[in-house]
Amino acid sequence: MNLIRSKIISSGSFLPEKIITNYDLEKSIDTTNQWIVERTGIEKRHIALNNQLTSDLASKASINALEYVAFNPADIEMIIVATTTPDLTFPATATIVQQKIGAVNAFAFDVQAVCSGFVYALSIADNFIKSGQVKNALVIGAETLSRIIDWQDRNSCVLFGDGAGALLLQANNKDNSGDDSGIIASSLNSDGRLNDILKTTGGVSKNQQTGFIEMAGKEVFKHAVEKMSKSVLSVLEKANLKTSDIDLLIPHQANIRILNAVMQKLNLPQEKAIITVADHANTSAASIPLAFDFANRHNKIKKNDIIVLEALGGGLTWGSILLRW
Ligand SMILES: CC(C)(COP(=O)(O)OP(=O)(O)OC[C@H]1O[C@@H](n2cnc3c(N)ncnc32)[C@H](O)[C@@H]1OP(=O)(O)O)[C@@H](O)C(=O)NCCC(=O)NCCS
Repeated sequence: MNLIRSKIISSGSFLPEKIITNYDLEKSIDTTNQWIVERTGIEKRHIALNNQLTSDLASKASINALEYVAFNPADIEMIIVATTTPDLTFPATATIVQQKIGAVNAFAFDVQAVCSGFVYALSIADNFIKSGQVKNALVIGAETLSRIIDWQDRNSCVLFGDGAGALLLQANNKDNSGDDSGIIASSLNSDGRLNDILKTTGGVSKNQQTGFIEMAGKEVFKHAVEKMSKSVLSVLEKANLKTSDIDLLIPHQANIRILNAVMQKLNLPQEKAIITVADHANTSAASIPLAFDFANRHNKIKKNDIIVLEALGGGLTWGSILLRW
């Protein structure tokens, strides 16, 4: 029986100051605020300036998390950045963040699972902690998705935004501490047969371009609802819990209709979900830690709460994490 749990001891976030509203988009493409709100729930998105890189957003979110609990960056042992929009093809954005925040004793690497990236990264960090290889980890989701959006493509450009969120994890030896909090179970999946329905038009090896986001919206919608609800059921089963045991669901913020459909399938009331999609839009790997930090700082999480995080993204990849606060 493993006695170590990965406990979340802090959260942080950063959103670039520049905001683009639906009304701003009405001026540049054939769309309306009403269409976007009705189909997605999105009202605005934050957009990074040209000189704000993913590593800058990630570093600010990290410092925000570290300062919240006065944690010394030199004490961080591992940094994982989940991102689809790295500063450079290499080195990993995580090593750039390491340098920017002064985490001189950590090892750092990136994880690429698109919008599921944060759930994947958190699960990896949890396994490093549970196995005793590290005692703490900084897990970041950070994106400048605006750089890979075709701002003339109304099918996609209305959906996405930029931002970063970070969680700080620490090993909690349940037996010594008498504290039951931390990550209890995770469930990760992918199906490469569906890699064509949500992808970019370019890449390093294919055409030496970054390309733009391209997706079959309806297909993605259908898979998102089905796969995310199954994933939540699977993580509950692993933890030997029921849907009614969930106190808080912190979903990937892609679209309010997807979120509502998942809640309905799980028979969970909407008040149990943290919803930030109206203000943040879809920030891919950053969306869950951004929503988590929002919940944490707005006192929406209570001691002992059972919290489930769930996401789906390009690949397709999907997954869930269940934890006790
Ligand atoms: C993209 C999405 C909002 C579109 O909603 P939808 O209800 O499926 O809409 P449709 O695709 O049926 O489009 C309806 C019409 O609106 C039009 N339309 C598309 N984007 C538009 C926009 N921004 N403004 C106005 N009209 C738009 C379409 O061209 C279509 O017109 P047509 O009927 O004349 O062909 C929806 O499919 C979705 O959210 N998919 C999941 C996307 C996602 O979250 N991806 C990331 C997952 S990590």
